[in-house]
Amino acid sequence: MALLPILRYPDPRLHTRAKPVAHVNAGIRKLVADMAETMYAAPGIGLAATQVNVHQRLLVLDISEDKSQLQIFINPEILSKEGECEGEEGCLSVPGIYETVKRSERVRVRAQDRDGHPFEIDAAGLLAVCLQHEIDHLDGKVFVEYLSRLKQSRIQAKLAKQARITA
Ligand code: NI
Repeated sequence: MALLPILRYPDPRLHTRAKPVAHVNAGIRKLVADMAETMYAAPGIGLAATQVNVHQRLLVLDISEDKSQLQIFINPEILSKEGECEGEEGCLSVPGIYETVKRSERVRVRAQDRDGHPFEIDAAGLLAVCLQHEIDHLDGKVFVEYLSRLKQSRIQAKLAKQARITA
């Protein structure tokens, strides 16, 4: 397994729309394993392939307390949405920034597992929010794009400053 470098906002590659995974093969399973390792090491609760500069539709997440429940979604699709909720979100591609975003409270998602088998789940709460956040990444969208222009430019300035300090 290997740790993968995570793209940082406002890297333009984060705005790439990922293509469907055609075949769930050994290469995809290796990518899933590397993405999981990268997510746990960060540490984070979700990671989309877009964030490691692989523009294929897959994501990993683990919202459990003890980080024991890795969930893998290949070619995830939101089938339906219900309700509304608001919560603070962060992102491994936008380090140190936490902002309130409006999302659907419940989503039904169809995807494939690591063997390529299709499944559907009804997600609510944190899982629903996390899935919407990560699927947005696959569509080339970063959560800060839900904020005002002014907030977005402040965040860009802050991250540019951080990058200069750590470079
Ligand atoms: Ni994110």
